[in-house]
Amino acid sequence: MKKVLVLHGPNLTLLGQREPDVYGILTLAALDGRLHAWGRESGWEVETFQSNHEGALLDKMHDAVGKVRFQVINPGAYTHTSYALRDAVAGGGVPTIEVHLSNVYAREPFRHVSVIAPVCRGQVSGLGVESYLAALESGARMFGEDAT
Ligand code: DQA
Repeated sequence: MKKVLVLHGPNLTLLGQREPDVYGILTLAALDGRLHAWGRESGWEVETFQSNHEGALLDKMHDAVGKVRFQVINPGAYTHTSYALRDAVAGGGVPTIEVHLSNVYAREPFRHVSVIAPVCRGQVSGLGVESYLAALESGARMFGEDAT
């Protein structure tokens, strides 16, 4: 079965209670539920993984090489700081789409820079759960036919 990995970075466990005006009221479990429902409807195996630890995210990305057609990553605040995650995306060769729930370009200046986006195929920002679903839809069309 075609497989996609969805990675959630630090603090996304707090969804639903964390700054709901910015991130909405959906919990991480509910968000993951939407992503798995998309997988069932679309014929894709969706694996979701959250960690507050950079190394755990790196290990997961390394493990996914050769096993997934593409990956979707919301690196949280690591977006703006983590050269290690950037190198894992570039080095692993797995097509990657970066997503954000909030519109990072409408927020504080430090959020306007992603050190990871330059090595991703694209980025979706500001659409809430639809950012993830748009990335899954696009990735499925772009990478669904490759053999993995
Ligand atoms: C975020 C945006 C980041 O700037 C922030 O640090 C997050 C969430 C988003 O999904 O909007 O943790 O990635």
